[in-house]
Amino acid sequence: MKRQPLIVANWKMHKQLKEALEFVRELRRLGADQLRDRTVVLCAPATALLALSEVLKDSAIRLGAQNAHWEQAGAFTGEISPTQLLDVGCSYVILGHSERREHFAETDDRVRQKLRAALCAGLHPIVCVGERGEEREAQRTHRVLERQIGVGLGDLAPTELGKMAVAYEPVWAIGTGVTARPDQAQQAQQFIRSCVAKAYGPEAAQALRILYGGSVQPDHMDSLLAQPDVDGALVGGASLSAQDFWRIISFHSQLTPTHGSV
Ligand code: PGA
Repeated sequence: MKRQPLIVANWKMHKQLKEALEFVRELRRLGADQLRDRTVVLCAPATALLALSEVLKDSAIRLGAQNAHWEQAGAFTGEISPTQLLDVGCSYVILGHSERREHFAETDDRVRQKLRAALCAGLHPIVCVGERGEEREAQRTHRVLERQIGVGLGDLAPTELGKMAVAYEPVWAIGTGVTARPDQAQQAQQFIRSCVAKAYGPEAAQALRILYGGSVQPDHMDSLLAQPDVDGALVGGASLSAQDFWRIISFHSQLTPTHGSV
């Protein structure tokens, strides 16, 4: 079964509104709307979501957030719920990013609650997992992934696996310039798929898109996406430039940039 590639920009806490809008204009000018055989998502800061959703109304580019709360409404000062994200035009949301785990003490239990809430609201969640450098050195990668997948995904219905994605993001590769080798990504992602197959059945595991994230650059895309269990990429630093992100999303593509105005 062929899964449609999913390529996701994670802008983190970058870009003023004007820069976000300029990025979209440039990405569309380069031809992003013509890439029909893959899904492209921009996970922008909350401050830019509404304005971006307005300009992306007639676009193939999808909009996402970088976090969401585990309740749909309530007394949670400063937080944003999945329903509110949907309301401003988001269809995707990143959950359990390692920066949230590290700086905001998010646990696998919390990730599971957020995943449930995001799915209930009708969003496509992207759940991040990945081992730290010292865990890989101590040969604990599989144990860590097994726990993050087991606890973080919880008791989903098998059909829900097709609505979400998992991003394998080894912490040692995030923002470091050290990308996992394609065979390392494949090995970990095959293991993740096998954990999912054990818990939800082989069919659900085949429907799940598993992305690689961690210092992805345009030149890595062809070799990463050639791996059978790598279904796309979650891109931080290299997603901040429209030119670089265009080179990332147009991997394998016969399309050349169009220079007409949009
Ligand atoms: P990076 O970030 O591409 O800058 O390593 C990836 C991520 O944190 O999602």
